[in-house]
Amino acid sequence: MNNYITGKIIKELREKQGFTQLELASIIRVSDKTISKWETGKGLPDITLIEPLSRALKVSVIELMSGEYITNQNKAGNLLKSSFSVCPICGNVIYSIGENLISCCGINLPILEADLENEKHIINCEMIENEYYISINHDMTKEHHISFIAYVTNDRCEIVKLYPEQNAEARFFNRGKGTIYVYCNKDGLIKKDM
Ligand SMILES: [Fe+2]
Repeated sequence: MNNYITGKIIKELREKQGFTQLELASIIRVSDKTISKWETGKGLPDITLIEPLSRALKVSVIELMSGEYITNQNKAGNLLKSSFSVCPICGNVIYSIGENLISCCGINLPILEADLENEKHIINCEMIENEYYISINHDMTKEHHISFIAYVTNDRCEIVKLYPEQNAEARFFNRGKGTIYVYCNKDGLIKKDM
């Protein structure tokens, strides 16, 4: 019978996080003997412990159970803290601050790395009265379109979701210095500092 989780993966992830068996045990409130049992294949974690265990080991439940995990390489995370993920299946947009592991529709979503604006994706910012009018000259077809525009300042993030056939534009109340993020469903995340 195949185990739904293996001791090898628990040990590997525990060591990756730099935890001793005792440290991991105290996080999820079991004894170190229990952790040792799991890692040597003499026992399996109760199903109710899978979620806290995956959280402690900083992987998703799916990764823990499949034994295949990804490494979060959000290099900008420490400096910028803001990050976006987009689910390729349902189009869900997730904004987060700091490191995390996001899954949606049963798959793990990588943190999107933002590129600076480029010749195909020029972000125009105009100040109209007390609003920023953001526009981008871009296709808005089902196959290739801008799916959101976000305005991130040090204390908040405002996201305007866009759909094909709409104009690629958004208005934001001027909250001062910040970054505009534009997401193209084909070319990814593009940013411009303001
Ligand atoms: Fe594009």
